[in-house]
Amino acid sequence: MLDHRHFHKYLSRADIETLVHDLATRINRDYEGKTVVLVGVLKGSFLFMADLVRALTVDARVEFVRMNSLGKTKESPGTVVFAKDISTDFRGKHALIVEQIIDSGRALKFLYDRLKAAGAESVEVATLLDKNDKRLVETPVKYVGRKTKDQFLVGYGLDLEESARNLAEVYFLKYPN
Ligand code: IMP
Ligand code: MG
Repeated sequence: MLDHRHFHKYLSRADIETLVHDLATRINRDYEGKTVVLVGVLKGSFLFMADLVRALTVDARVEFVRMNSLGKTKESPGTVVFAKDISTDFRGKHALIVEQIIDSGRALKFLYDRLKAAGAESVEVATLLDKNDKRLVETPVKYVGRKTKDQFLVGYGLDLEESARNLAEVYFLKYPN
């Protein structure tokens, strides 16, 4: 069971709404007159995707992928594979990857390369949260909601062993010493 006494609020509903609104404003401006396919990374991005896509006024489509890291251990990052690959024809289309949080950036790089290889005319990345100090693999991230230090966050899609994704706000976990 989750012990909510260790949850400390990181982003309120109002914070999230402001971040989503500001990102959507930039995306609407940058893709004016174009069609953009938002590629949500499951499972974490499902709520952010739902809020972001509803704030867009440009012609927006949605696609989802799910990636797994096989053979991941403390010593080795493992290999990224698709549990659900893209099923859209990306040739000549503008792809916008939608992530909840970016950490090492390994999964992001794998998806970025996949979309480029699928013939996307452009590939950009939008993330609500960016642990940029933790990056091991670089991919340009154009739309960042908020940069965050290395702390464990849950809620609004982010999970602790599959729990807490349904929380409407983002919390950081802090256990007493
Ligand atoms: P990476 O960038 O390939 O290392 O992996 C990023 C993924 O790790 C995210 O999509 C999340 O699923 C997970 N993740 C990273 N940081 C957190 C966190 O603070 N809370 C919950 N999940 C996280
Ligand atoms: Mg997780």
